[in-house]
Amino acid sequence: MASKLLVDIHTHVYLPRYAALLRSRSTVPFIRSSTTSDGKLDERLLILDHEPSGGRPVGPQYWDREEKLKFMDKHGIDVSVVSTANPWLDFLPASQAHTLASEMNEDLEEYCSTSPTLQNLPIRRLFGFGLLPLVPEITTTSLLDTVKQISRLPHLRGLIMGTRGVGKGLDDESLDPVWAAIEAAGLVVFIHPHYGVDPKAWGDKDNGHVLPLALGFPFETTIVSALRHLCGVFDRYPSLRLLLAHSGGALPQLSSRLASCIDHDPVVASRLKHDARYYLGKLYLDAVAYGPEELGFVSDVISRAGRYQAGSSVTEAANRSLGSRRMLFGTDHPFFPPLSATEKWTSVVENLEAIDTVQGWSPADKDGVRGGNAVSLFNLAE
Ligand code: URA
Ligand code: ZN
Repeated sequence: MASKLLVDIHTHVYLPRYAALLRSRSTVPFIRSSTTSDGKLDERLLILDHEPSGGRPVGPQYWDREEKLKFMDKHGIDVSVVSTANPWLDFLPASQAHTLASEMNEDLEEYCSTSPTLQNLPIRRLFGFGLLPLVPEITTTSLLDTVKQISRLPHLRGLIMGTRGVGKGLDDESLDPVWAAIEAAGLVVFIHPHYGVDPKAWGDKDNGHVLPLALGFPFETTIVSALRHLCGVFDRYPSLRLLLAHSGGALPQLSSRLASCIDHDPVVASRLKHDARYYLGKLYLDAVAYGPEELGFVSDVISRAGRYQAGSSVTEAANRSLGSRRMLFGTDHPFFPPLSATEKWTSVVENLEAIDTVQGWSPADKDGVRGGNAVSLFNLAE
């Protein structure tokens, strides 16, 4: 039954074409290759400006489809909706970004369309998020052509994007025709961080990747989402389907504060049709939060939206079940591999256990978060 599938909607790949580009470069982002004293190839990924510890070890799990399928099998994942990992095409000149986006979208379609089908259902195991050439100086025509391309590739059901847009963020009005086209095509937009926040915030000690990944990434998502709320994108494009990485970062925790600050600000107080908390209920969030209390809290917050619809007199308390319908399981594979050999990856097991133990989620709610919600959102059964 499709509603019982385990579907991973937050799982990445560096397609071979993209990995080759990273290998050809010697500044961030790039892959540095060397040979170890015992003659083995050692490849390191350097994608952050202040990449600690000489880069992260990378190998076939980052580009080889067989490795993705093996990982899925090991963790009981039936279907994955795969996206290119950060920093996408952000660092390329416009013409190269356009060409590479189009080639990588075709590559990803091939990656998905030739994947095996499930044993008991006529559903492929791999679907994808395409890429737009979101870089400064790109033309709107180029972006719209790429939205069209993605929407005609049958296994691409959305697109992933970072937070910079064409250099002016995601609240840039010049992106309006692009949102309109994405909305019309029914594609899901997966908003994912890459830049974090100013590294000066992290102090001088070497704490590895902990602070940029645990805090910088979700803060970036929080900031860009707040800006998008402030620009009223959901008032203009009410059917847009936006999926936020890492359970929306700190946005659920800060949404009432955001709403209050808007209400007290003469510049924005009359800009939006609804209270800021209303728009949270229109988002989809991954369930990559690693703890049941966090998932429960996030689902409470998303479920309150109706209460904040302009003119609404609804006063009921948060409804966890309702909120759970907007949340979807993810792994962030191939990032966060275990540091020492374990059968299953702790990062995956923890997220599955978290879903399983949220107080107030019924068995049907949990099935929804594990996969049923993804089957509906991405029309996977079609
Ligand atoms: N590290 C990254 O660079 N990207 C992710 O998506 C997760 C961890
Ligand atoms: Zn990710």
